[in-house]
Parts: sequence; C-alpha cells; structure tokens
Amino acid sequence: MSEEHLTITDDRTGKSYKLPIEEGTVRAMDLRQIKTNEHDFGLMTYDPALMNTASTKSAITFIDGDKGILEYRGFPVEQLAERSNFLEVAYLILFGEMPNEEQSTAWTYDITHHTFVHENIKTLMQAFRYDAHPMGMFISTVAALSTFYPEAKQVSDADNRLAQIKRLIAKVPTIAAYTFRHNRGLRYVYPDNDLSYTGNFLNMMFKMTETKYKPNPALEHALDVLFILHADHEQNCSTNAMRAIGSSCADPYSAMAGAAAALYGPLHGGANEEVLKMLSRIDDKRNIPEFIQRVKNGEGKLMGFGHRVYKNYDPRARIIKRVADEVFEMTGRNRLLDIALELERIALEDEYFISRKLYPNVDFYSGIIYQAMGLPVTMFPVMFAIPRTVGWLAQWQEMITDPEQKITRPRQIFVGQPRRELPKKKD
Ligand code: ACO
Repeated sequence: MSEEHLTITDDRTGKSYKLPIEEGTVRAMDLRQIKTNEHDFGLMTYDPALMNTASTKSAITFIDGDKGILEYRGFPVEQLAERSNFLEVAYLILFGEMPNEEQSTAWTYDITHHTFVHENIKTLMQAFRYDAHPMGMFISTVAALSTFYPEAKQVSDADNRLAQIKRLIAKVPTIAAYTFRHNRGLRYVYPDNDLSYTGNFLNMMFKMTETKYKPNPALEHALDVLFILHADHEQNCSTNAMRAIGSSCADPYSAMAGAAAALYGPLHGGANEEVLKMLSRIDDKRNIPEFIQRVKNGEGKLMGFGHRVYKNYDPRARIIKRVADEVFEMTGRNRLLDIALELERIALEDEYFISRKLYPNVDFYSGIIYQAMGLPVTMFPVMFAIPRTVGWLAQWQEMITDPEQKITRPRQIFVGQPRRELPKKKD
C-alpha cells in the first residue's frame, strides 16, 4: 500500500477520495471512481500531446531535462560515448547490463551475420523512383521485411523476438545504404562482415572500385559516437508510436515502420534536415540578427533548438559539438558550422530564448557532421533511424513483457454533433 496519498474533494457531490501517489504520479484509472451518479462514466484526464502523462514504467533511459542528464540503464551517455562502442551500448540498452568480453564477441558476431538482405528486397528497392526520398524508401522497406519473416508475428515468444531484434539491428544499415546508392544511381554494395558496424556502413555507402574498402578510422569512430547518442531517448514521439503499434501485437517490422514514419516529421528526427536548410538560407553570419528577429516575430522557428524535455543544454549536443571538431579536422571546416556556432552564441544571449529555456538539441550539430561526411540532407533522418532502431526494439520488448500493458487506446472528449436524424429519402 502506498504511503503517500492525494485527497480529492468533488465539489459536485461533496464526496472525498483518497488516491495513492506512487513515484510522483496518480493512476488516471483511479479517477474513474469519481462519479456524480451511477450512470456517470467517471472522471477522466484530458492531456492532448500527453504533456503530463506517464504512459509506462520503463527501466531503460533516464532523462533529467532540467539538469541536462541522459543515462542508458544508469550509465551517463558521456561515459558511454567515451568508453564503449555502439554495439555494446545496443546490448546494454536491450539487456540491461554491459556485455562481458564473451557476450560482446557473440553479440557482434550475431549482428554482423545478419547484415545481408534477401535479394528480393533489393529488387523491391530498385522499383523506387531515382529521386525517391530515402526515408520513404527506408520506412517502406522495413515494413516489407515483415513479409519475409512471417514468424515475427509470434511476439510473445522470447526467442523469436530476439531473432527479429538481431535481424533489424543488422539490416537497417544495409537498407539505409541502399537508399543512398539508389538516389545516386550507383550499384548497391553488399555488407563486408570483416568491418565494424559503422565501418561496414561506410563501406556500403561509399565503396567504389576498390576491392576492399578501408573506412577512415576517425569517421568510423565519429559515426559510432553519433549512433550511441541517438540510440534511445525514452518516450519520444517515435518510441511512443512503436509502443502504440506494438501494443496491438503487430510484428516488430510493421511497428518499426510506423515508428520510423513518426521520426520522419520535421518536429522530431526530420529537424536536422531543417537545420541544414535553415543554415544554408541564412548563408552568412551577418544575416543572423535579422533571422533571429524573424523567429522572435513568430515567422518561423530556430530549428535544432528547444525540446519537450530538456530545459537545459541537451547533453548530446555538447558531445556532438566535440565530434564535429574531430570530423572537421579530417574533412576540412564546413562554413555552416561557423554560422551555427554564431547562431547558438547569439540565441543563448537573447532574452526570448533564455526565458523559454530554448537550447540547442541533438539535431543542431548532427546535420553539419553528416554533410561533412558527404551525405545529402535527405539522408539525415535515416541516419537517426539506424541507431534508434535499438531504442525502439528495447522499448517494444519492454512493453510486450510488461504485464500492465494492454492495447493502447486513449479516450476522447467528444465535441461533435449530438445525435440527429438523417431525413428519409423520398421514393
Ligand atoms: N524556435 C523559436 N521558438 C521556439 C522554438 C524554436 N525552435 N521552440 C519552442 N519555441 C517557443 C514556442 O513558440 C513557445 O513560445 P510561446 O510560449 O511564446 O508560445 C515556447 O517556445 C514553448 O514551445 P512549445 O512549442 O510549447 O514547446 P514544445 O515542447 O511543444 O515543443 C519542440 C518542443 C517541438 C522540439 C519545439 O521546441 C520545436 O519545434 N523545436 C524546433 C524543431 C526541433 O529542433 N525539433 C527536434 C527536437 S529533438 C528531437 O526530436 C530529436
């Protein structure tokens, strides 16, 4: 029995109710008992955009938005970015602990040996128009995978789930790279299982005539860090979509296609694409004050700024800024980085942004790095989807195994027409 309570008095009836408080929350279903009469449905909460609703208990990712803290399974993301690699972090997020050496070797082997996709997937992707948006191709192809693995429907079978989890984590870089090659009119490059997760991804993206592609170690590492930073972010829009779709027991490929679709939007994972467009439009540091003024006048947003949860510097943005320096040492400095740095400096001194607690988020700098690596802006949301696959799957698995979870089905306040009669048709 909970120690803390909330006592509510319903002024309509004069009745009082004592609701338990657990972990700073009251259960919305506890409000249902609050009725004016026996025919009353009971009190509900109204929370558009789920601004103040915990939809689940989760043990995966912790965020303190005010302090700018992000932890996976208790480990600060800064330490993970410095002392581990993406596949180890994927293991941690999925299984709760860092892998030991033996587990790490087996896990890496398993992921590496599922990187190939069926040749029919290739044919399917070749059917897209030459200029199809990579994210549209990515979403469709992930959904199509469900037709190749019909057994994935058995979502209550733990071994079966794990098989699909490994397949998805292994195959998303292959699909992502194929979308890029498709846009370029280049032949698709098969995975090279001698390379690391990110090294192989670079191989599938950029290999040309060489017999063996050698990834640049600095870029391989930078990408690995970026993937770690994007691996999970608790109940964000796309993860919520993954859980909601998965709650109907849809297979993980179908659920993940929905999650990726949610990520595509410019207010979520599509924001890094918008940041690049914005920086290109600003074009020169001298145009920044005028641009900021337009944002303050409500004529657009400063893309890559602001976050529903972080009301402080996004910790990921801080690490990404460092990665940017490493990448630019390799690729040469990107002009847009200077505009971004100046934009950040001016915005962080401006009362409009200070009072609203608007700070750079993960998308503010990631796009500039991707561009320096030779990626077009249309690939940016795909670059987000690859590592987020891990978070989506871990959250999906947690939802499936949570005895409290049921099919997601919110209520509504109906504000439409009351019942009325449709006139009878004349004979
Ligand atoms: N530029 C200018 N003003 C902003 C911005 C911004 N980027 N973000 C928020 N504001 C303003 C709002 O206009 C609002 O002002 P008001 O109080 O005068 O009306 C105030 O700050 C609060 O903003 P909300 O929109 O209520 O914040 P919310 O939590 O709903 O939105 C969001 C968060 C969607 C991320 C928003 O900040 C935004 O649109 N940012 C730009 C897009 C972006 O970078 N998205 C990526 C997020 S990170 C991720 O998904 C990986």
